[in-house]
Amino acid sequence: MMRVGILTSGGDCQGLNAAIRGVAKALYESYDEIEIYGISDGYRGLIGADYRRMEPEDFSGILTVGGTILGTSRQPFKRMRIIEEDSVDKVDAMKKTVAKLHLDCLVIMGGNGTHKTANLLREEGVPVVTLPKTIDNDLWGTDVTFGFQSAVDIGANVIDCIHTTATSHGRVFIVELMGHKVGWLALHAGIAGGADVILLPEMPYDIARVGAALEKRRRQGKAFSILAVAEGALSRREAKMGKKELAAYRAAAGQPSVAYRLADELVPYAGGEVRVCVPGHFQRGGPPCPFDRVLATQLGAAAAGFIREGRFGVMCGMVNGSVAPVELESVAGRLKKVPEDSVAVRMAMETGVSFGV
Ligand code: F6P
Repeated sequence: MMRVGILTSGGDCQGLNAAIRGVAKALYESYDEIEIYGISDGYRGLIGADYRRMEPEDFSGILTVGGTILGTSRQPFKRMRIIEEDSVDKVDAMKKTVAKLHLDCLVIMGGNGTHKTANLLREEGVPVVTLPKTIDNDLWGTDVTFGFQSAVDIGANVIDCIHTTATSHGRVFIVELMGHKVGWLALHAGIAGGADVILLPEMPYDIARVGAALEKRRRQGKAFSILAVAEGALSRREAKMGKKELAAYRAAAGQPSVAYRLADELVPYAGGEVRVCVPGHFQRGGPPCPFDRVLATQLGAAAAGFIREGRFGVMCGMVNGSVAPVELESVAGRLKKVPEDSVAVRMAMETGVSFGV
């Protein structure tokens, strides 16, 4: 009898259910005798032994459904070894749940934080296989994560819609895209939506240069401008600050996010008002796009393949366009940032997009 647990952890994204389904369907095809357990709400369910035995019908009809049928939660890696007021040894509790269910493998779907804990479980002797999911696309060791393309589609759609109203009114608009500490989503949605300015955390901006890009457009007779700004974007000045100094500086500015700070600062250059649009969690919601359905199914099936081979302690990555096992050790704790000299950045610059640098 083969026994496999599946959990989804961290912020959700499109394609999680498609990946769960891919793993399960490929496992049912491979084994006559298999039990699959769904762990509820990520590591929280693993710690609290909150799980349910899944049946084949649980995995039907979920390919196109957003969110995760297993639920998810954020359980910070840095607190995993800390015993809190409830006196629970979280690592020990997770291992006990794995032992109780006699799991031959635990399939873990998540982003950066999730992968640090998955690696910790590997170090503790738990057989794990992981899948890279996040709209941020910031996971080391894979060309792409599922969820990213769906979020890019939504982000580009938001910019498209803002474009028409910005044009009608001759306004400057800032669209703030998610992405945490990296700019993949803002870069791709920005290029796809024809943004005039794209600001990324990887390329700290000079406000005068951003302003100059707006003034140049006005001189060219273009009354409107669109800025696609990553939520983690920061100015050159901010980039030089330590964590605490930055937090104090931003608190003093009294704005909820970068888009609002920029809107204030850009008024002198914009020749009028600067409007803000923050689509927020909209970018993580709804059905996965067809690209993510295919990617998540492919990675899910690959996870089942690695389980068959007894290949544990790896993430199913897309490496140069093919699925490959990537050692968890090399993934955990490493961010995949947008390289300043990437083809996408260079191409955008060549077509006149300003990065404020
Ligand atoms: O990691 C995915 C993500 O959507 C980031 O882009 C964003 O910064 C963060 O999660 C938001 O997290 P939460 O949903 O916990 O507020």
